[in-house]
Amino acid sequence: MKILGIETSCDETAISYIETNGITIQVLGNSVNSQADLHTPYGGVFPTLAKREHSKNIVATFILAMKPFVTKNETSLVTDEQLKTLTVLLGKEPELLEAFLSHITKIEKPDIDLIGVTEGPGLEPALWVGINFARALNIIWNIPVVPINHMEGHILVSLLKKESADTYSIIEPNFPSLSLLVSGGHTEMVLSRELGSYNIIGKTRDDAVGECFDKTARVLGLPYPGGPKISSLAQEAREKNIVPPEKLPRPMIHSKDFDFSFSGLKTAVLYLTQRLGVIDENTQKGIAREIEDAIVETVATKAENAIDAFGVQSLVVGGGVIANTLLRTTLTKTAENRGIPIHLPEIHNSTDNALMIAVATWFAKERHIDRSPKAQGNLSVENVLLDAIQ
Ligand code: KG4
Ligand code: ZN
Repeated sequence: MKILGIETSCDETAISYIETNGITIQVLGNSVNSQADLHTPYGGVFPTLAKREHSKNIVATFILAMKPFVTKNETSLVTDEQLKTLTVLLGKEPELLEAFLSHITKIEKPDIDLIGVTEGPGLEPALWVGINFARALNIIWNIPVVPINHMEGHILVSLLKKESADTYSIIEPNFPSLSLLVSGGHTEMVLSRELGSYNIIGKTRDDAVGECFDKTARVLGLPYPGGPKISSLAQEAREKNIVPPEKLPRPMIHSKDFDFSFSGLKTAVLYLTQRLGVIDENTQKGIAREIEDAIVETVATKAENAIDAFGVQSLVVGGGVIANTLLRTTLTKTAENRGIPIHLPEIHNSTDNALMIAVATWFAKERHIDRSPKAQGNLSVENVLLDAIQ
């Protein structure tokens, strides 16, 4: 089965094309176009700009991922009826419509059995671009579209085991399994007693972990996305033995529940920098080190508490923040101490990508999960819409 994955929930436009025989997954094409630099002046992702960029780039990202598999014609292959429907569908995304009509309608139908598209969670205007692109492909090629949950994608991509350069197998975790999701928009702990069942046992009450990295970085005058920048400064501070000016709080680290709260950490960094006044480079590195330590210690302690409380047999970690080296090594030790396996995504699959969406699409098909109320078997585009709106 050949699957196309589409991801546009935040500031990455991503397309992935995979083939699976039910046991292994071969990545036939994969392309990620990051807009992060464009959002830097805003200190975070600016939704209307994200939507515009997705509209501008999604066709090119598709063609890049699918390059060896597309045959182009000089003339359009769509009927007048299809053209009319596309014009209405993509009416609010003129750049996408133009690129679609100039390129996609001149491609022979590629060998794709199923299209999976992120329906949420994410920035609504950004999500619509991916959904409408999927619907447009459905109109011209009549390929069924499956709505995919972004967070499930983060979990499943962590279960991939590399077999060769472009081939993965999927490892079934030991149950009960704890998935720790750490991204720019979410911080959640999810307990699974079987594949595909998800029970959220704790989540952030305010900022997500990635958001905390990004916001504290901003306070320190570092550009968006702040996570990787804090991390490299912290690494330098450790290597050079630069100590932080003072200790920062570990919010909710001792609470009995499994919730998180990170907004207090951002405020603490703000007050600290205000008190210190002018901050030299070493002080900045020292604070970055302490921010990273505070976040990692809090997350690892909470995960450890959940492992003990629920008799967890495997730890799965997903989301952009698991690209962080200190968090990876600390959680690996946590799992080792508890004698359970840990499943981490490859670094380049940690931040948003479409491979995770394609894998989740296969998974949804395998489970015959029919998440839309009206859909039976193949999900129609109306159901995608329904799901996205709900
Ligand atoms: O999962 P993701 O790509 O997008 C969302 O779904 O939100 O996560 C992006 C987040 C950003 O907040 C970014 O700063 C953070 O992941 N991040 C990191 C690192 N790489 C990305 N945070 C800390 N250390 C990193 N190395
Ligand atoms: Zn994400």
